[in-house]
Parts: sequence; C-alpha cells; structure tokens
Amino acid sequence: MYFKEIELKNFRNYEYCREFFSPEINIFIGENGQGKTSLVEALYIMCLGRSFRTQKDKDMIKFGETSAVIRSVVYKNERNIRTEIVINENEKKRIKINGIPKKKSDLSNNILIVVFSPEDLKIVKEDPEKRRRYINREISQLYPSYYEALVRYTKILNQRNTLIKTGNVNRIHLKVWDDELIKYGSRIIFLRERFIERLSIISANIHSEITEGKEELKIEYDGDISFNENINEIINEFEKKLNFSFSKDMARGITSHGPHRDDIKITINDVDVRKYGSQGQQRTAALSLKLAEIKLIEEEIGENPVLILDDVLSELDMSRQNYLIQSLKGVQVFLTSTSISDEIADKFEEKIIFEIKEGKVINKV
Ligand SMILES: Nc1ncnc2c1ncn2[C@@H]1O[C@H](COP(=O)(O)OP(=O)(O)OP(=O)(O)O)[C@@H](O)[C@H]1O
Ligand SMILES: [Mg+2]
Repeated sequence: MYFKEIELKNFRNYEYCREFFSPEINIFIGENGQGKTSLVEALYIMCLGRSFRTQKDKDMIKFGETSAVIRSVVYKNERNIRTEIVINENEKKRIKINGIPKKKSDLSNNILIVVFSPEDLKIVKEDPEKRRRYINREISQLYPSYYEALVRYTKILNQRNTLIKTGNVNRIHLKVWDDELIKYGSRIIFLRERFIERLSIISANIHSEITEGKEELKIEYDGDISFNENINEIINEFEKKLNFSFSKDMARGITSHGPHRDDIKITINDVDVRKYGSQGQQRTAALSLKLAEIKLIEEEIGENPVLILDDVLSELDMSRQNYLIQSLKGVQVFLTSTSISDEIADKFEEKIIFEIKEGKVINKV
C-alpha cells in the first residue's frame, strides 16, 4: 500500500498543493520553516485522523482561513482509496472515504504509518510518560480496541481521582469506578505486554545487526501489576492492589496502581540504557525500535506501513544511515531534510526529490 497523491487546501502554510508520489522514496528538501514537516503531517492525518505535532486540529488551518481540506489517494489491494478530511474552525472534522462519511477509527483500516522524528530518538532517555505515549500510539494503530480501552480508562481514572480528592467517598461507592478501571486497565496491560514481547524479539535482532553482534538489546514491560497470560489473573491482581492502597490513595488523592504508571525497561547487555547508555546507544536503540515496528506491522497485517523520516537522517552517523536505507526496501518512504548529499541520494533508486519553499513545491526531479 502506498500514497499515490495528496492535495492540500489552506493547510498550514500551503494555500494549494497537489502532488503525486513515488511508491518508493520521496524526499522533501528545503530550508527551515518552508513546509516539509507540514506535508508529512498531512499524510499522517490521512492515516490516523490526528496530527503527530498538535492536539488541536484548528492549528493546522492556514492562518487567516476558516477551514482546511486534505485529500489523498492511496493504492491498496489493486484499487484506489480516496480519502478526504475537512477541518473546520468551529466544528468537528469531517472524514470521507470514497465519498462516504466515515469515523476517525475507519481510517486505520486503510494505511498504517510509522513516524521517525528527532523526538523519537529521545524515547529511550526521556520520562516514562513519553514511552507510554509512544507505545499507546503504536498499539492503538494496530488494535483499535486498545485505543478504545485507553480512552475509557483515562476518563475513569480522572473521574476516580476527582472523587477521591473530595475525600467524601467510601470503598463501596468507589467500587463502581474500580470495576471499570480494572476492566479496561487489564486489557491495556495485556495488550501492552504482548506487543512489547514481540517488539523485543524483532528489535533485538535488528539491534544486533546494526552493532554487528556486539550489543544485545532487551525491552521489557515494566509495570506494577505483573503480567499474566491469563487476563483474569491480571484482573485479580489489579483488584488486590487497588484494595490494598485504598487508604493511601484516599490520603494522597491519586490512584497509585494501574497501567498509567507503567514503563518499558530497555537494556543493552543487561545495563539500563536510560540511565547508563551513551547517547549513541540510546539513538541506536530508538532506531532498532522504530525499524522493529515496521516489521511487526508487516507481520500483523501482511503489508508494510508507510514510513516518515522527518529530519532524522542527519541525526544518525554514516553506518546507521546506511543500515536504515538498506532496510527500507519495499516500504514507501517520505524523508525530509534541509539538504541531502549525492552520496545518500544515490542510494535510493526510484526516488522523487521535491524542493519546498514557502508552502510550495518549486521543483521536482
Ligand atoms: N496554521 C498555519 N498557517 C500558516 N502557516 C503555518 C501554520 N502553522 C505553521 N505554519 C508555518 O508553516 C511553516 C512551515 O512549517 P514546517 O514545520 O512544515 O517547516 P519545515 O520545512 O519542516 O521546517 P524545519 O526544517 O525547520 O523543520 C513555518 O514557517 C510555520 O511557521
Ligand atoms: Mg520540519
């Protein structure tokens, strides 16, 4: 599956733009602030119905305008899928697939996307919150039921916290919330663990290849409710923990157990990379994770996702760049950069280079 075409109207700094893509590699070149990331952001929205850099859809409407339109054509299973998203200032965005109104969750049936940006290079070293957000994003894309559970869990967690902060609640009363929290929370834990286990195996192989067998990468689920193959066991343990911490939670006004406290533990040769890894090791681990994600999606749905490399190539050393490039066969790639050397450009065969300036494609080779 791949993007054939995109059309933008009043999107970010683009007044109008329509471009056709190579099924292999598309390179967006331009100085800072010209519209490279905006273009890949538009592709991302067509896959997931939301941006990777803003929570507010309105931010994407061109300054001074009241609506933005994005249209795309994706080629999949030997046919074209036409998607349209209209973002309005004062109402919910509207999505149509092949002319028929659809929900946001219908988009991910079409095309999956993996973004790799300098932000992602930091996944390994930043706070647990960042890693949670990362795995939430990736698992949601593969399993819409995960996203649903996550939305519900977060809502119930907030309600529960508000309630216990009032101090005016007893165990029996709280049980209604706890039952829901446990129901969705255990689903989250279950799917997270399964995802991380698979990601760990694939990324370990990739990491070993990149480092020529010198480094053994391991990723583990690091949660305060231990994982069990049997979801009922997770439910039981979660319930026990909530009961046990009832008085403490009441005193502190927070919920001290649950998947909102989870982390992922990443080690190289059994040493915690977050604490002790060099910057290069942290980046390589992040690269291995990203490439593993592509593989996992391919295994899961039988097709490669589209890959966005936003400003990330220049952050890697030559041998990492080479590894990345040679592992991209069969994946449609959108790469942004302020410049690209002939040496790197020559490594890609079926490529189109788009030169971007002030929200326009001014040259295409
Ligand atoms: N809603 C908007 N309306 C108009 N212009 C916008 C809007 N949002 C952002 N911009 C502008 O669009 C321009 C392009 O931003 P973008 O992030 O796509 O640049 P870029 O080419 O990726 O730059 P860099 O190399 O620095 O990453 C910027 O100058 C930004 O200020
Ligand atoms: Mg950019």
